[in-house]
Amino acid sequence: MIIGVPKEIKNSENRVALTPAGASEIVKYGHELYIQTSAGIGSGFSDESYLSAGAKLLPTIEEIYKKAEMIMKVKEPIASEYNLIKKDQIIYTYFHFASSEELTKAMINSGAICIAYETVELQDHSLPLLIPMSEVAGRMSVQEGAKYLEKTFGGRGVLLGGVPGVPPAKVLIIGAGIVGTEAAKMAAGLGADVTIMDVNLKRLRYLDDIMPANVKTMMSNSFNIKEMVKTHDLIIGAVLITGAKAPHLITREMLSTMQPGTVIVDVAIDQGGCIETTYPTTHDNPTFCIDGVIHYSVANMPGAVPRTSTIALTNATLPYAITLANNGWKNACRKDEALKKGLNIVNGQIVYKGVAEAFKYQHVEIDTLL
Ligand SMILES: NC(=O)c1ccc[n+]([C@@H]2O[C@H](COP(=O)([O-])OP(=O)(O)OC[C@H]3O[C@@H](n4cnc5c(N)ncnc54)[C@H](O)[C@@H]3O)[C@@H](O)[C@H]2O)c1
Repeated sequence: MIIGVPKEIKNSENRVALTPAGASEIVKYGHELYIQTSAGIGSGFSDESYLSAGAKLLPTIEEIYKKAEMIMKVKEPIASEYNLIKKDQIIYTYFHFASSEELTKAMINSGAICIAYETVELQDHSLPLLIPMSEVAGRMSVQEGAKYLEKTFGGRGVLLGGVPGVPPAKVLIIGAGIVGTEAAKMAAGLGADVTIMDVNLKRLRYLDDIMPANVKTMMSNSFNIKEMVKTHDLIIGAVLITGAKAPHLITREMLSTMQPGTVIVDVAIDQGGCIETTYPTTHDNPTFCIDGVIHYSVANMPGAVPRTSTIALTNATLPYAITLANNGWKNACRKDEALKKGLNIVNGQIVYKGVAEAFKYQHVEIDTLL
């Protein structure tokens, strides 16, 4: 198959869909691979590293789209890319269709095969192409929280691990899924006094078994949250109710009970946030302060560490890309149920129910097209 990797052109996006290591795997299977010149620069991968991996370079995005049977990307195509996409071309990337009717219409009109990373789903309902970004955001939430706890950034001036003779900072993590667990590991490693909450007792039991002694578990409910926020230095919001807006577990009222300089990192902001007072911010201006409480609520946290994020993402996307390239999309999706769930739009028809429902469009069962 002929595969193309364009340079990401969405604002502030420095990731790339394939590392040189991934490129050499694809070439090893006998596929023809074209990378747009300088596509990997934002993630620290030179053009030469792709050439040594066996890929070829093309100078413009137009040439990449024209040549490729399958496009591998990171973010959804933006308006200037819509007309470059060809009928029957496979577009393998994050789409998040339900949040943009314009994009949905454009992809219907293109006649392309749109496979969305975010809906590839394993039998246990986990989302293997979203997990790596949650891992990055979870680990990063502690790094960012530690920074904003410093006095110059408006925080309480508390060191997460404390020092001999001074107790460590208290970190509260609400939500014990991927983000919460990774945050707990990092905070614990830095020596903080960590409490992690969830509504899922089975999950808390598991974490209680595997976490170090400085991580305690607690049932999440409004009574417990109200009490805990009064004494904690860093609070990390990491809840997810699949397919729904995040619940506001910390209310505006609770802010006045917190210590001045407390830091909240609301990782769940991409689902609306689990703190009443947060709104999405950007890496250029990541925080704001309400009632003396620092709020950090960047909606694309992994964007700050594109090298790590690119490698983490491509570790997860590459095996599916190889299956697609080796078998063609139809056979690949017949063979792999998880990949089949990634199909969102096929030759002008919506095959993913959630996307059709979001805009009240017609939905076609994918099995009738395979
Ligand atoms: N801001 C970013 O850059 C960024 C990056 C990656 C992920 N995220 C977001 O982070 C959030 C968490 O992602 P995840 O992968 O960890 O999800 P996950 O499904 O692995 O975990 C979510 C956890 O929240 C728990 N939960 C649900 N309701 C709760 C409540 N009332 N109290 C406490 N816990 C509750 C669930 O039981 C589950 O364990 C999602 O909204 C995700 O989109 C944001």
